[in-house]
Amino acid sequence: MVLKGKNIVLAVSGGIAAYKVVQVARDLTKEGAEVHVLMSEAATRFVTPLTFQTLTQQKVHTQIWEGWTKEEQGHISLPGHADLILLAPATANTMAKLAHGLADDLISTAYLATPATTPFMVVPAMEHLMFVHPATQQNIQTLRDRGVIVLDPKYGEHATGATGLGRMPEPTEIVAAVRLVLGQRQGDLRGKRVVVTAGGTQEPIDPVRFIGNGSSGQMGYALAQQALERGAKVTLISGPVKLEPPYGCEFVSVRTTREMEAAVNLALEANPPTDVLIMAAAVADFRPLRPSEQKIKKEKDKPTPVIELELNPDILLGLKGRPGLENLLRVGFAAETNDLALNAEKKLKDKDLDLIVANEAISSIGQPDNEVTLIERGGLTQQLARKPKRAVATAILDKVLELLEKKHVMNNA
Ligand code: C5P
Repeated sequence: MVLKGKNIVLAVSGGIAAYKVVQVARDLTKEGAEVHVLMSEAATRFVTPLTFQTLTQQKVHTQIWEGWTKEEQGHISLPGHADLILLAPATANTMAKLAHGLADDLISTAYLATPATTPFMVVPAMEHLMFVHPATQQNIQTLRDRGVIVLDPKYGEHATGATGLGRMPEPTEIVAAVRLVLGQRQGDLRGKRVVVTAGGTQEPIDPVRFIGNGSSGQMGYALAQQALERGAKVTLISGPVKLEPPYGCEFVSVRTTREMEAAVNLALEANPPTDVLIMAAAVADFRPLRPSEQKIKKEKDKPTPVIELELNPDILLGLKGRPGLENLLRVGFAAETNDLALNAEKKLKDKDLDLIVANEAISSIGQPDNEVTLIERGGLTQQLARKPKRAVATAILDKVLELLEKKHVMNNA
């Protein structure tokens, strides 16, 4: 969403990773950005300008000497109109030029012509020895000191077959970093701190078995991802799931409800204070009273084991009335198999929430999409049609923003 209508200059220097940047150009364009590609002479040897031109539907610039007429000199003024400049892959040579202020090709000229307030992001990719060389490292430090955002390369296999540090991050990660930077500058949740819990908790029965549920974490991860893209600082506290944490969040991995409770409390004690807590996790309400230290055996002639349970703490309930959290906006989820609205409204009141997201349990847990009703403190209700969890996350965060603004107006009244 944050990329829609954005003007991005994509500078491509001459490394083999240029072939992967084709995907970056495609993804940025698909998400609604206008992408203007500049290529160094060497880059055109790895990928043709036509490839980028076809995918971005924009003229690709390769020559510093092109277009000195009024109509043609667009490429000189491109950085001035951009929301962000992305240099990927960034070769050691191009980074050296930027660090030393040379202006002998399109990319180095574009760097010098970039206004100080426009984010400039660099994605190095090169052979291990070139990357770790003090000259390259010093140039990267110079760029960082000047406010350039330099993504860290990965350790892994290079196109040549050698292994080491210097591999370019995957296109999805680069696009996520672009979204994050733009969100932090322009997003409607910038400056806000948001804590999101996600996934289901697990309570051990013995070392290999547990009580758990089918929560996939998709809803919580979508909320965390979008809050990041809208500029918030996000802490994601997650039970065990198969998803990658969104790029740029503070990530805390937990297993049991009590671990999740401790992580939530710790996050809420941090300074500056948290503005929003979204409890999307499917928290286990009960845990085995006496988990076995060894795997429970199936033994003939012995009675089937009975697992005695005890109640887990209710994380949200435990925050009710806690001093210091008066300004925290609390969002809970209610997954029910029966009497959805009634149960959700009861939870909203009992747990002192500002908003509850009510959904039918069986058709939502572990599914890629969801049909939810948003119920505000005071009972105001908004029913949403079934949609992907990403779109549900947008609607929830729109409501969160509205409630934050209301709270702000009330606090200042
Ligand atoms: O009471 P119930 O478990 O249905 O409430 C659901 C909401 O409360 C969810 O937002 C869930 O994350 C949160 N919860 C909690 N601690 C628990 C159980 C649920 O904070 N032990």
